[in-house]
Amino acid sequence: MHAAMRFAFVMDPLERLVPDKDTTFGFIHAALERGHECLHMLISDIEREAGAERAAVTAMARPIVRDGSTFAALATSRVELGEADVVFVRKDPPFDAAYGYATQLLEGLRGTTLVVNDPRGLRDANEKLYALEFPRWTPRTLVTSSRERIHAFVAEVGGRAVIKPLSGAGGFGVMAVRDGDTNARAIVDFLTLEGQQLVEIQEFLPAVAEGDKRVIVLDGEPLGAILRVPAKGELRANIHVGGSVEPTELTPRELELVRDVGARLKQDGLYFVGLDLIGGHLTEVNVTSPTGIRELSRFLGRDASADVIAWAERKVVRG
Ligand SMILES: Nc1ncnc2c1ncn2[C@@H]1O[C@H](COP(=O)(O)OP(=O)(O)O)[C@@H](O)[C@H]1O
Ligand SMILES: [Mg+2]
Repeated sequence: MHAAMRFAFVMDPLERLVPDKDTTFGFIHAALERGHECLHMLISDIEREAGAERAAVTAMARPIVRDGSTFAALATSRVELGEADVVFVRKDPPFDAAYGYATQLLEGLRGTTLVVNDPRGLRDANEKLYALEFPRWTPRTLVTSSRERIHAFVAEVGGRAVIKPLSGAGGFGVMAVRDGDTNARAIVDFLTLEGQQLVEIQEFLPAVAEGDKRVIVLDGEPLGAILRVPAKGELRANIHVGGSVEPTELTPRELELVRDVGARLKQDGLYFVGLDLIGGHLTEVNVTSPTGIRELSRFLGRDASADVIAWAERKVVRG
């Protein structure tokens, strides 16, 4: 048995949650089921005070309660986040200035409250750039703002590549670039803001037709995986743009990849992460608000969100 704990969720407005799809919804549901108190707050609700007399991180928070098949938030009051047991940071990308500041406010909780994911890890790990820390597992990739370098790269990797904005999510702005395509130059001009902005360009992985595997990693260990298959005629497998979801397993190579990357994730306080794998290659490391646990739960026939809450309970007790 576990004692009731206080869980704070730093997230988007509650109304935006999709009850049967949202991973954060799953966490809140599981935490309430296990008898914990859940608090809702936006990143703009967080404050930090410092001075000889008092140092604290506080937030205007609203208790979350069940309301039929969904949730409702009760009246707002100021809470000390240092008195919460776990803070889940689940705000959807983009990682903008406000998000960056919030991670620094949350630094004030270091040593008192478990923050998932660690604010330092969130700051350090851009979802596209962090994947480059694992060159053994990544496809050929270049991050540059130079249009000439991008076009040369496309030719070098066989005339077909995928270009991505560094701050995107849900497939937004991810496009195929083909040598000789009428739009190739326009796409590169557009995403680099005519050579002024960094983008990622990556070799095209034909295995994407079979799907983009989302591996959910909890504290360095695989919790499970789902396969997202792009809609017919579409490059992007993201659920958000119509990718369909299928059950899947990890191949021995993928398991080795996950264990290798997982050790580093754990070190960096990136406890709840979604790895994107195409054809056994690591294309993206989702750390801000990875999704997929609800689909995984359906395939497993049990609530994987409860595994995450149970892990947090153990982590708080053990330290
Ligand atoms: N190197 C690649 N080769 C083929 N398809 C890719 C490649 N990289 C991404 N994709 C496709 O684009 C989608 C989105 O890319 P991803 O890097 O995961 O960015 P996002 O943050 O938008 O999810 C993937 O689900 C996949 O379908
Ligand atoms: Mg992705």
